[in-house]
Formats: sequence, structure tokens, C-alpha cells
Amino acid sequence: MIKLIVNGQEHAVDAEPDTPLLYVLRNDLGLNGAKFGCGLGQCGACTVIVAGAAVFACLTPIALLLGRQVTTIEGLGTEDAPGPVQRAFMTEQAAQCGYCIAGMVMRAQALLARTPDPSEQESRNGLNPNLCRCGTHMRILAAVRRAASLLRAAAPTKAAAQ
Ligand code: FES
Ligand code: FES
Repeated sequence: MIKLIVNGQEHAVDAEPDTPLLYVLRNDLGLNGAKFGCGLGQCGACTVIVAGAAVFACLTPIALLLGRQVTTIEGLGTEDAPGPVQRAFMTEQAAQCGYCIAGMVMRAQALLARTPDPSEQESRNGLNPNLCRCGTHMRILAAVRRAASLLRAAAPTKAAAQ
């Protein structure tokens, strides 16, 4: 048994230590937001956040995750109460087939946590590991801009808090 902390909940998983996190999320924990695209770290459809960094779940063995917080798209919000980045993607209608979108949202979430007001180039660079075969890149970039302002508005500045 390997203990994983996913979206704040601890799970005891009966799997080999070298099992990719993506398989455990989808097959054992019923978290199907992260998608299997290439399985090779080349598309980003499987992106989740581990200890604040966006990672490819298809390449991450669960043995590396002991004691580390894993966040999936399900951890950002719900259908009724989506998180700010999810809301921004919906408002900008930043999806066609939608296959890449959970990964894009997670990559954007990690980017905005470390760079709250990214330039266009920083957003492009930050999202670069993730691919969208439908070509919704301009809408995705608009969603990142919108998400950044939603997150900044939700986080009062130090000065305002004093
Ligand atoms: S499925 Fe993980 S990068 Fe493509
Ligand atoms: S919306 Fe279809 S792959 Fe991105």
C-alpha cells in the first residue's frame, strides 16, 4: 500500500511503486479529469499539480509522491462552484473538444500561483508544455488573462489588508 494525498484527502493505494500517477488517479481513485493523451510527457493532457508544480501524471511514479500534496482539476472546484481558473476558461469558452483543457487549467493554475500577473510571453512560455490539437490557443491565453485578474481580485494586497 502506498499513501497518497490527493485534493487534501489521504488514500491508501494498492499499486506498484512505479505505477504512473495518472493510472492511479483514473483507475483507482475515480478522478478522470486528467486525461491520457500520449503517455510520453509530450502533450500535457495528464497535467496535475504536485507540491505547487505542474507535472505530467503519466510520467510520475507514485513512489515519488509520499507526503506530497497532489492536486487534480477536481480539487480546484466543482460543477456548481468552479474555481477562478475554471470560471475563466468557461467564460472565454476556451475549449473545442475539451480533451486538453483539464491539463491546460492545471498548467495555468500553477503558472498563476508563481506569476500572478504574467505577460503574454510568460503565459505562452508557462503553457508551452501543453498542446491543443484543436487550436484554441488564443482563447486559452484570454482565459489565463481573465483568471489572473480574478485571482488577483480575490487576493487582497498587503496594503489593503492593513
Ligand atoms: S498523457 Fe501525459 S503528457 Fe501526454
Ligand atoms: S480543445 Fe481539443 S485538444 Fe484542446
